[in-house]
Amino acid sequence: MKNNPIGVFDSGVGGTSIWKEIIQLLPNENTIYFADSKNAPYGEKSKQEIIDICVTNTEFLIAKGAKIIVVACNTATTNAIDILRKEFKIPFIGIEPAIKPAALATKTKAIGILATKGTLSSYLFHQTMQEFASNISVVEQEGTGLVPLIEKGKINTIETKVLLKKYLEPMILKNIDYLVLGCSHYPYLIPQIKQIIGTQIKIIDSGFAVAKQTKKVLSDCSLLTDTNCKGTHQLFSNSIITTLSKLIENVQKTTILKH
Ligand code: DGL
Repeated sequence: MKNNPIGVFDSGVGGTSIWKEIIQLLPNENTIYFADSKNAPYGEKSKQEIIDICVTNTEFLIAKGAKIIVVACNTATTNAIDILRKEFKIPFIGIEPAIKPAALATKTKAIGILATKGTLSSYLFHQTMQEFASNISVVEQEGTGLVPLIEKGKINTIETKVLLKKYLEPMILKNIDYLVLGCSHYPYLIPQIKQIIGTQIKIIDSGFAVAKQTKKVLSDCSLLTDTNCKGTHQLFSNSIITTLSKLIENVQKTTILKH
């Protein structure tokens, strides 16, 4: 089991931002990534639809031998991870908007969060807000439309910049000093976001924290690989692979396959 792959899934290409952190921190691990682009965006779906999709994705990754599953999607984590943990025996790692570090660090007592409708409306998100951010102002913004643009590879386009401006400018007016990226697709927009928010507002995303947690859980469960060889990576997609290929073009030992 130790040398089985780490399974990772997302509603598409966005979770590769997390997957890249994982393979950097754990270079000898093999991985299998499933980009469920056909069902993107998850953020507009009902909780039950998200759960059903996550169960199917998990079954696929387990059938491919996954020893642990990283749910590299905030929307899927906040809506379905408790069910996945109940239904399947292997360990799960999730990703949630990094509200706690932003709430601890803010000086202006105002932070912004850009996430999907599915994440912002979830019970888990509200619980985290209550626990860590009840004494500060949190400007919540749904990033409607951003995931489909990223899926199409339209990252550095006028269309994307216009949408980002619409979402971020009201946050700037509310004096936020931290912006939490609550969707694993959004790290791919960091250069465009920085052009709008400047250097005074700091961006927080959870990618590295997820990689560290994956390493810790693998170690706790005695599941870290014992090989010294560089890991190999299979990426499955159920849609057009143009954007996926582009986003991973600099990563070695990868194969893209049709699902
Ligand atoms: N990457 C997913 C997330 O982190 C995007 C959700 C969606 O497909 O709407 O939430």
